[in-house]
Amino acid sequence: MDASIAARGAGPHAFPVNAKGHLEIGSVDAFGLVREFGTPLHVLDEDRLRANCRTYRTALRTAWPNSAVFFASKACCVMATCRLAYEEGLGVDVASGGELYTALQAGVPASHLMFHGSNKTPDEVDYALRAGVGRFVVDNEYELDLLEAYTARTGTQADILLRLTPGIEPHTHKAIQTGGVDSKFGFGIPDAALRAAGRAARLERVRLRGFHAHIGSQILDLEPFRLEAAACLDFAAQARDELDVSMEEMNFGGGLGIRYLTGDEPPAVADYVGALIDVLKVKVAEHRLNPPKVYVEPGRSIVGDAGVTLYTIGAVKTIPGVRTYVSVDGGMNENPRPALYGARYEALLADRPLDAPAQTVAVAGRCCESGDVLIWEARLPAVRGGDILAVFSTGAYTYAMASNYNRFPRPAVVLAGGGRARVAVARETYDDLIRNDVVP
Ligand code: LLP
Repeated sequence: MDASIAARGAGPHAFPVNAKGHLEIGSVDAFGLVREFGTPLHVLDEDRLRANCRTYRTALRTAWPNSAVFFASKACCVMATCRLAYEEGLGVDVASGGELYTALQAGVPASHLMFHGSNKTPDEVDYALRAGVGRFVVDNEYELDLLEAYTARTGTQADILLRLTPGIEPHTHKAIQTGGVDSKFGFGIPDAALRAAGRAARLERVRLRGFHAHIGSQILDLEPFRLEAAACLDFAAQARDELDVSMEEMNFGGGLGIRYLTGDEPPAVADYVGALIDVLKVKVAEHRLNPPKVYVEPGRSIVGDAGVTLYTIGAVKTIPGVRTYVSVDGGMNENPRPALYGARYEALLADRPLDAPAQTVAVAGRCCESGDVLIWEARLPAVRGGDILAVFSTGAYTYAMASNYNRFPRPAVVLAGGGRARVAVARETYDDLIRNDVVP
């Protein structure tokens, strides 16, 4: 990325530079954040996070008023993000007992939760029923068995959507494609899904409200979403015709991609939502379907571009004629995406963002393996130990996927907005690392 473009606030990552010549996140000096909270530091621009939530709500409501947006919390499931999404009028998608607990503890009402998961355990189903989660997204027959048994046992009822596998494979990393025929997720359409819908409709304490699909993540092209919508609505018509099952609600999942690199051109949220709703309108008319309530559940496109990770640069090693390694104090322990998916990021120096790039270096993490490189080809000015590196678009699936590999404590997460910074998750300590250890 050209630092001078970023400096004007018009670049792909659009974080401004202040009078001191430092990067600003949420109108807070990034260098000041580092002094106050240390590194590595996951900073979430609160203003951008809130704006992203509002953009989704407005776009979907405008296109289809009978609708709701759920924040796919897995992208960054901490109490602060769940709470913020709820404050902005979103529900929260949770995919485990732990995410459910986090959202509830953050004050999100259970009725605003959509409970996902391809292998919910009996304990999780029991917990979710007792808590009163708004919707279960049912992934398989085993889950219907659990719901049948546990609604009876707890004297509760469950409102469900069936997860469809529409057989669509968008162009994204194979590990994050989810909607294809060969998938652990959901009911294949039409046969498996028809069987499940027929069964669900007969269950006494289970109310089948409609359908769900999610085809993958970091999708930069709208066509797969159009195909997804068409396949789901064709199926809804078939279910109505063959089983007399009516669809009141349709959840199109998440998956919209974001900009990681200067050249990435993600569709605008309004265009993404518009593409889904255009197909919906055509199919509702074609099949004379009752117009359903529509849900989307974005994760990355809510929180991804709001995140910046700040690192302190340490060792710099130049192998003449080969490569320069610039080591930072984080790595695959707090952002495993480059190692897992070959994910690419852009970076600049937070304390000198206006310095022109002068070299191409590898930004290496601290973990004990050669594959722990966060950016293989970063364009940076001359660097020295003590410089602060800012890596952009790290809000989604970084902290959420962080581990304690090599016993590195997880970094702190800070919300920066309106000129003030607040801790959302404290930095782990060495004591946290051994909290559950026992020497038998
Ligand atoms: N709904 C369901 C059922 C999902 O499985 C997901 C993501 C979402 C919604 C949100 O998708 P998004 O809008 O964030 O694309 N760890 C990977 C991404 C995994 C996505 C998992 N499911 C990565 O770092 O790229």
